[in-house]
Amino acid sequence: MNSAWSDGTRAVRAGSPGRVPGDPFLPGPVFAGTYHLPGEPTGPYQYGRYANPTWVGLETAIGALEGAADTVVFASGMAAISAVLLGLTAPGEVVVLPSDGYPATRTVGEHLAARGVTVRLVPTAGDQLERAVSSADLVWLETPSNPGLDVCDIERIAELAHRAGALVAVDNTLATPLGQLPLALGADISAASGTKALTGHSDVLLGYVACADAELADRVRSWRSLTGAIPGPMEAWLAHRSLATLQLRVDRQAANALAIAQALVGRAEVADVRHPGLAGDPAHPQATRQMRRFGCVVGFTLADADTARRFLAALELVADATSFGGVHSMAERRARWAGNDVPEGFVRFSAGCEDTEDLVADVLRALAAAGRG
Ligand SMILES: Cc1ncc(COP(=O)(O)O)c(C=O)c1O
Repeated sequence: MNSAWSDGTRAVRAGSPGRVPGDPFLPGPVFAGTYHLPGEPTGPYQYGRYANPTWVGLETAIGALEGAADTVVFASGMAAISAVLLGLTAPGEVVVLPSDGYPATRTVGEHLAARGVTVRLVPTAGDQLERAVSSADLVWLETPSNPGLDVCDIERIAELAHRAGALVAVDNTLATPLGQLPLALGADISAASGTKALTGHSDVLLGYVACADAELADRVRSWRSLTGAIPGPMEAWLAHRSLATLQLRVDRQAANALAIAQALVGRAEVADVRHPGLAGDPAHPQATRQMRRFGCVVGFTLADADTARRFLAALELVADATSFGGVHSMAERRARWAGNDVPEGFVRFSAGCEDTEDLVADVLRALAAAGRG
């Protein structure tokens, strides 16, 4: 891809095949459990669990956006995360995981511990991380973290971790490659759930591992071939199709998220409004240094669980659902799930692509309704 192009152009063009007369702009999904393979196995397509042309198109596209040497797509974000954490570690090694990130990542950490890997859980914010990575084999960062929206200095942590010989992986789910480029900041791996803003329509589960080094990607791909954590061709094609609008979606979502955060800040009935793009947010200075867009998620705390429930029920434009990054706004009371260290009234809000004034009006109206009891 032309390195002079800006984000919107890159998103539209990512992974586009050449202009072959008579061909569609993006070839449809290839459904193949196996391929013709006479004689000894050679060529890129031998068996459906190992490779698929629709994955390759998507991997080329995501790799171009992430600035990766090679990228491997997976059936879900957790399949991608598990491939890195389980596939690239060995007994006796030390792995650093965020204590405040997506809870299922820590649960994979429990499986690592059972296999003789030492797992250090460290908060994303603060200086503990710098100390923890100086004697690690694999460092997993999640920045901004979900749901707390804390941010760490990827470049600094990568430098310290590399001095110790550790691999550094960043969960780039919330930011997307248009929000931050972990590999350019020194990470070895940028991995993500493509289920969220990357595909953005709440109709696909997907994950990927983008690697700075092709040999590392080979190891990740071997793990995928072995475990079969592969995306369906239809999902891969839908994801690739969605990438063309990535910049339009993440720009609108980030603008909506910031508008909502600004509308909530300072209101008596709302505490601890968090969004990395909000001036005054503790994560804002570092976010400004390493992010180009601040994502769609806003966190805030209402008085108690019942107030949060009333708020969510009163929203007209916002679905009560557990995800983020979709074109439809959604929110949830995060403490309804185990494993999240948040107050009972904490709301994780994902701004969609609705018109800003409609969304802000809906949020303020629901807030007033929740306050009436
Ligand atoms: C930061 C983060 N990483 C990974 C995942 C897992 O993604 P998936 O649901 O696609 O497996 C999630 C899911 O919410 C997430 O928020």
